[in-house]
Amino acid sequence: MDYKELYKTAQQAINNAYAPYSHFKVGAALLTKSGEVFTGVNVENATYGATICAERTALVKAASEGYREFDAIAVVSSGGEVYPCGICRQFIFEFGDNIKIITGEDEDHIKVTKIKDLLPNGFRLK
Ligand code: THU
Repeated sequence: MDYKELYKTAQQAINNAYAPYSHFKVGAALLTKSGEVFTGVNVENATYGATICAERTALVKAASEGYREFDAIAVVSSGGEVYPCGICRQFIFEFGDNIKIITGEDEDHIKVTKIKDLLPNGFRLK
């Protein structure tokens, strides 16, 4: 799947977002190095703090199925262009410096940024 398709997959996933508190719906689509795609959405919670973002939902789905190597993750919101939050940046960085973050206003204006450029000096246990 190319990055435009990945972006469109993330866009479609928005429909499944559970965001009754913020009404800000987010979809993600994670591409493994072997070509599988895992989608994710934000799942909010009445405690607010227990909310999980779309990016981490996708990563947790993939990691719990045994996948560890990722090429790219697209993220799209109901409110326009969005970039991963700080926690999600660290969560993505866990699996590699060069994972690409696919963002953009729409499918014809896609931006590709490496996670190491969005999170300089990301934390790793030595
Ligand atoms: N959110 C995501 O799912 N991903 C992001 O990259 C930014 C924020 C969610 C969390 C919360 O459900 C809502 O957007 C508003 O913060």
